[in-house]
Amino acid sequence: MVPRTKNRDFHEYLQFAAQISQEAGKIVMQAVGKELFIEYKEGNKKNLVTKIDQQVENFLIRKIQKKYSDHALLTEETGQHGDTKKEFQWIIDPIDGTTNFSHGYPFFAISIGLKKGESTFAGAIYAPALKEMYTAEKGKGAFLNGKKIHVSKIPKVEKALIATGFGSTNNLANMPNFIHFVSKAQAVRRAGAAALDLCHVAAGKLDGFWEFGLKAWDIAAGSLIVEEAGGKITDTEGKNLNFEKGNIVASNGHIHNEMLQLLKEK
Ligand code: IPD
Repeated sequence: MVPRTKNRDFHEYLQFAAQISQEAGKIVMQAVGKELFIEYKEGNKKNLVTKIDQQVENFLIRKIQKKYSDHALLTEETGQHGDTKKEFQWIIDPIDGTTNFSHGYPFFAISIGLKKGESTFAGAIYAPALKEMYTAEKGKGAFLNGKKIHVSKIPKVEKALIATGFGSTNNLANMPNFIHFVSKAQAVRRAGAAALDLCHVAAGKLDGFWEFGLKAWDIAAGSLIVEEAGGKITDTEGKNLNFEKGNIVASNGHIHNEMLQLLKEK
């Protein structure tokens, strides 16, 4: 499913990430429709975590630590594992789109990125209900189920399908931008899993995506997949993406400046 490349190291990492994300996908799909034991993070009724998020995260941590004991990890549910100064860091969202998953709405994914230094070098995002496996290795292109993908050619926001998201805290802050984009774009969507929104920009199903305040695990793998599909990634002011701030604009490149301008106007 992951095409061979000459860079053997990252190819091996990517293949491993794709394999364990698929195994994690089986755990997730077996749980759909069953009792999920939902809890609320920090008492916020919009910020869900289920027993399956924790189970999948533990599964992925165990697999990675067993194979690469000298690597660090950053995960959504349990944070930092190992020294942040380690050469390699795996950044994991066990289920991006937990709310969707908890309702059986099929837009959710397992996201695994591998960072070396400041950049992500390998990313695998698997959406088990959609049977979509997105992979990318730095400099080697992006793939959906093993087939090369490319961003769209849509030249203007007025012809674009654009997506966004609203975080579980401060979630109305993006509303003025949302309204502005609804008035300017062909259409705007809010499906509820940022990692998958990024994959859909990479595959040309969406032309652009923006969101504020995402976390590294929502965007580490997806931002590489967009860039490797020929797209553009910046923060919401047009500067380099900062994983800690998590303000992101992803696009096919052609509509990027126009998106930045629309964000500036609100
Ligand atoms: C969430 C999703 C959602 C985005 C939120 C994220 P989670 O991730 O990506 O689309 O709007 O900001 O927190 O919590 O489901 O892993």
